[in-house]
Amino acid sequence: MTKGYKMPKGFLWGGAVAAHQLEGGWNVDGKGVSIADVMTAGRNGVPRKVTDGVKEGEVYPNHWGNDFYHRYPEDDKLFAEMGFKCFRTSIAWTRIFPNGDETTPNEAGLKFYDDLFDDLLSHGIQPVVTLSHFEIPYHLVKAYGGFSNRKMIDFFVRFATVVFDRYKDKVKYWMTFNEINNQTAWSDPHPLLQNSGLQLGADDNWEQAMYQAAHYELVASALAVQAGHAINPDFQIGCMVAMCPIYPLTAKPADVMMAERAMQKRYWFGDVHCLGEYPKWLPKYFERKGFDMDITAADLATLKAGTVDYVGFSYYMSFVTKGRDGDQEYDFKEPDDFVENPYVEKSDWGWQIDPTGLRYAMNWMQDRWHLPQFIVENGFGAYDKKEADGSVHDDYRISYFRDHILAMEEAVALDGVDLIGYTPWGCIDLVSASTGEMAKRYGFIYVDADDNGHGSFDRSKKDSFDWFQQVIASDGEDL
Ligand code: BG6
Repeated sequence: MTKGYKMPKGFLWGGAVAAHQLEGGWNVDGKGVSIADVMTAGRNGVPRKVTDGVKEGEVYPNHWGNDFYHRYPEDDKLFAEMGFKCFRTSIAWTRIFPNGDETTPNEAGLKFYDDLFDDLLSHGIQPVVTLSHFEIPYHLVKAYGGFSNRKMIDFFVRFATVVFDRYKDKVKYWMTFNEINNQTAWSDPHPLLQNSGLQLGADDNWEQAMYQAAHYELVASALAVQAGHAINPDFQIGCMVAMCPIYPLTAKPADVMMAERAMQKRYWFGDVHCLGEYPKWLPKYFERKGFDMDITAADLATLKAGTVDYVGFSYYMSFVTKGRDGDQEYDFKEPDDFVENPYVEKSDWGWQIDPTGLRYAMNWMQDRWHLPQFIVENGFGAYDKKEADGSVHDDYRISYFRDHILAMEEAVALDGVDLIGYTPWGCIDLVSASTGEMAKRYGFIYVDADDNGHGSFDRSKKDSFDWFQQVIASDGEDL
């Protein structure tokens, strides 16, 4: 056993999921079709397809998820047994506003989350809620072009206000947009669709479209923060960024400068969320690129008035980049300008494993944004083998968590980072966001279902279940 550091009293140990990846029940109780409902199953190295609506004969894994919609009481009991203090999930926008542009919410959808939150609270587990986690109503994509349209700000704020008001006595910690900065790899259509509801053609300027959509999302987030605080001043409303620090390949000055620009391009979203203003390099970049942006003076005032209370972030991996000889602009482009890190190992899906990167990132964010942090995702997607007796020996997962939790504890105990909690991703097996697979498993709890939705969907404990239970029971000391 490795000796860790005790986390402060009240530290929120828990687990994290997103509605569309585990609930299933995609068309029940008045729910509308979301982006996730028109994404087919992919595989490791095979991208998911997006169909124009739900089509007969296609396989849509989010339609069944892991059937949490019907089985959450059993799951909540297991979370309580592990010692969870909190559980991060999202509210499916399409359960509340099936098309997204209605003015009256769907009562059956609101009731589902009432029941879920009550059940969690009865176990002493507080819900931590993301408002938009890759599940924009599909109607808003088709009829409005997603967040390319300023009208989306109103739809999002209406949704946020309805749920803030409904759950004001049940939920304290909120986040607005999941991994808002995960759309910077602009040659990949999926993040733009999942984050912003954008479906672009070959002739569109994808990069400009991403910046414009992100601007509207940031304004919507700032308005939601203000609305939430007016409803309950005790609310803690955070942003959510995908934190993958980007290192220079060598100490060569051009590599260092390129890594700095790469960090600027991936984390300006956090600057706006946390500091309420655009960093200086960005208007200059828009000017250089000739981007004609719709950013008004009123928007800028809104951003300043709606800064977040904490930084929620995911951490899975780090990246590396290098400079180009004779380059003056350092226009880092993701993913083309990434290079391999020769010092770290990778998962089966090519994700670079780097626990020290977590500590580095926590220090970097503390120095830059000066806000409390909440690690709302971290974890290891792997192929698990269920033995004949039902056991799953996932020592590789335990080892990933041990190293990352220790790095997190060092950031708190040795570096003074202010950390609210830690919720490992996919604490129960669910559908992968990038590939749509069930086979890419993250959970402490095994779900007997395959990529095509076959199986009993029964739950069982992996070895990592007992291990994480002991970590929580010792407040992080016994790793
Ligand atoms: C994050 C997302 O990108 O990483 C989750 O917020 C996602 O929705 C998680 O599931 C892990 O990624 P993947 O592609 O392995 O499911």
